[in-house]
Amino acid sequence: MKIINVSASRKYSVLIGPGLLPRLGEEVGKLCKAGTAAVISDTHVWPLYGEAAVSSLERAGFRVVSFVFPAGEASKNGDTYLSILNFLARSHVTRSDCVVALGGGVVGDMAGFAAATFLRGVAYIQVPTTLLAAVDSSVGGKTAIDLEAGKNLAGAFYQPALVLCDTDTLMTLPEDIFRDGCAEVIKYGVLYDPGLFAHLEEAGLSFDRERVIARCVELKRNVVMEDEFDTGARQMLNLGHTVGHGVEAQSGFTVSHGKAVAIGMAIVSRAAERFGICQPESRARIEALLRAFGLPVSTEYDAQALFSSALSDKKRSGGTLNLVVPRRIGLCERKPTPVAELESFLEAGL
Ligand code: NAD
Ligand code: GLY
Repeated sequence: MKIINVSASRKYSVLIGPGLLPRLGEEVGKLCKAGTAAVISDTHVWPLYGEAAVSSLERAGFRVVSFVFPAGEASKNGDTYLSILNFLARSHVTRSDCVVALGGGVVGDMAGFAAATFLRGVAYIQVPTTLLAAVDSSVGGKTAIDLEAGKNLAGAFYQPALVLCDTDTLMTLPEDIFRDGCAEVIKYGVLYDPGLFAHLEEAGLSFDRERVIARCVELKRNVVMEDEFDTGARQMLNLGHTVGHGVEAQSGFTVSHGKAVAIGMAIVSRAAERFGICQPESRARIEALLRAFGLPVSTEYDAQALFSSALSDKKRSGGTLNLVVPRRIGLCERKPTPVAELESFLEAGL
C-alpha cells in the first residue's frame, strides 16, 4: 500500500493499493467515532462493492445508511443533490457522523458537495472506483454539481477526511472508462513528469496501477498544497480541458470527459508547435501516446464551435483565457490568450 499525505485546509491521507475496501471501516473508525456512516453510490458501483463497504463499516461499529442514484453524469444535478440532503436529514445524520462516497467522479463530486453543505459541513471519505476518480477527482476537494447552463457550476472547495483507493475495484471497470482515466494520467506526465510519461510509453495499458496512481496523486497533492483554491498553479491541471469542455459541450456530452481531454491536449499541443512554443518531438510523442492508449486526437468540430464553448469556461478572466500549453514533455506553461486570438490559435491545432 502507498500512502500520500495531503496538507491543505484539512490534513488527510490517500491510501492506495489492492485489498483496501475490506479495511474501510477500520480506517474510517480512526477518524470518526463510530456513529452513522452514510454511503452514497450509484447503480453500477453499489451492486459490485456496496456489500463489501457496508460490512466493513458495520464490523467497525458504524450504523450504515445508503443512498444509491442512477449511474451517469445526467444524475449530477440539483435534484439528486437535494435528494441526498433530504436522505441525510431523514437518516438523522449529525455533524459527528460521516458521508462515504463510493464510486467514480460523479458520486465523489456530488456526495462531496452534499457533505460540504449538509449541516454546514460533515466529514466525508472518498472511495474512488474509477481511474479518473483515483488520480484526479477524489483528491483536492473540488466538489460540484452541474447546472443547466454548464458542468460543475455549483460547488465548493471541501477536502475529504480520507481517500481510500482499492486498486482491485478498477478490475471491473469497462475498458472504455478505464481509457478515459488514462487521458488524465497522460496529462500528469505531460505536465510534470517525463519519467511517468516514458513509463506509459513503455508499458502501455498494462502500466503498474498502484505506482502510477500514487505518482499522479503525489503530483496533484503538490499542486493542491501550493494552490488549494485554484487561483494560480492549480490551473495547470486544466491542460486539454478548455478545448475538451468545448468538445464535450458541442457533442451534447456524448463524447466522454477523458476522450475530450485527450482531444484537447492534442489540439493545444499542435497549436503550440505551430506557434513555436512546443518542441515538435514532444508534440509527436504526446499524440503517439494518446493514440497508443486508444484515445482520440482530433474532432469534427471547427474552431468557431470550440471557441464559443470555451468562452463560457470558468477559467476565463475578462477578455483573456488562460490556456495551458506544453513546451516539452514535463514542462507546460499558462498562455494568457486574448479572446480575439483564441479562434485562430485553436484553428492552428485542428
Ligand atoms: P463516473 O463516476 O460517471 O463513472 C463512470 C462509469 O463507471 C459510471 O457508469 C459508473 O457507474 C461506472 N463505474 C464506476 N466505478 C466502476 C467500477 N469499479 N466498475 C464498474 N463500473 C464502474 O465518471 P468518472 O469518469 O469517474 O468521473 C467523471 C466526473 O468526475 C465528471 O462529472 C467530472 O466533472 C468529475 N471530475 C471532477 C474532478 C474534481 O476535481 N472534482 C476532476 C475530474 C473530473
Ligand atoms: N481536476 C482539476 C482540479 O482538481 O483542479
